[in-house]
Amino acid sequence: MTAANDEKVPLPSVGFTFNLKRSKSEREAEFDSIDTIKAIEKVLTESGYEVTLLEVSEELPQKLLSKHFDIIFNIAEGENGRSREAQVPALLDFLNLKFTGSDATTLCICLDKALTKHVVLSHNIKTPAFQVVYDRDYKLESKLHFPLIVKPNAEGSSKGISSLSIVKNKRELRRLVTTLFETYTQPLLIEEFIDGREFTVGILGNGDDVKVMRPMEIEFLQKKGHNIYDYSVKQDFIGKIEYTCPPKMKPENERLMMETAKKIYNVLGCRDLARVDFRMSPTKGLQFIEINPLPGLAPGYSDMPMIAEKNGIGYAELVTSVIKIATERYLGDAV
Ligand SMILES: Nc1ncnc2c1ncn2[C@@H]1O[C@H](COP(=O)(O)OP(=O)(O)O)[C@@H](O)[C@H]1O
Ligand SMILES: [Mg+2]
Repeated sequence: MTAANDEKVPLPSVGFTFNLKRSKSEREAEFDSIDTIKAIEKVLTESGYEVTLLEVSEELPQKLLSKHFDIIFNIAEGENGRSREAQVPALLDFLNLKFTGSDATTLCICLDKALTKHVVLSHNIKTPAFQVVYDRDYKLESKLHFPLIVKPNAEGSSKGISSLSIVKNKRELRRLVTTLFETYTQPLLIEEFIDGREFTVGILGNGDDVKVMRPMEIEFLQKKGHNIYDYSVKQDFIGKIEYTCPPKMKPENERLMMETAKKIYNVLGCRDLARVDFRMSPTKGLQFIEINPLPGLAPGYSDMPMIAEKNGIGYAELVTSVIKIATERYLGDAV
């Protein structure tokens, strides 16, 4: 950064918006730990940016107006409802501030898994057959075949998903739907369970410069029953999961996965970075599960830094790339 060599040029000023995890409550499950905040702040500071921490609170609008920011590095998860991830980006656009990552529209759609599936389906991308149920009075559509997986339609971080989420018959389904509606006051997504290998693909960039990283396989070591990559597995993955990148697969299948990930990223209007989850079924082929346009950036834990690392992009490079990519996007005026 040349600014460090020239005292007259102020350092680029970065506001860093985030929701801090202050407790282990489920409400804060998607929030970021102080370690993640400090790790990102350290990278940005060491890369020559002047960083202001902006924890999300009711005072955020005033804080954003209190000084000049060249750009906002946004990882805020927001609060309440399926628009929560979009709240801070919407505010930033309202205040005409530049920020990293996708805008409110993309974040709103992608947090709603069913809505996202409708969009990708309209582009002929395969995704498991599904039905959304709004209350306990549902009728299972005949197109759905057991086993099925049931998840809250607008959650992340595996909230509401565990090995108990897979059901083999209508009785089990009814029981699970009842339990989930007792916990989550939101529609549920019933989806065909894809018994196959699981992959996640990291993407960085915009327009012609989109860089799709080689996929990382989330390999289940205990191949019994129906494996899913849920919170408890991720917390305690040793002996259960192998993260393999590049994955052992036919080059044409890997190419298809990377091209499909890029197509999904573009049709949903993602910006700067995202992570796309897939399953590959021996009978049904490549199936899109979900996209995370606000992927976790916890060093040594979140999948996005792990994929980047395995693709030769260290943590500091990942974080600084995001800010550079966003800055270039505004310069190029590519929305
Ligand atoms: N239709 C499906 N078939 C097979 N496994 C699934 C399906 N949907 C979700 N899973 C499993 O559950 C995990 C979490 O589901 P996902 O929709 O990605 O939710 P989250 O937003 O919590 O990451 C996936 O990584 C996968 O292991
Ligand atoms: Mg996921």
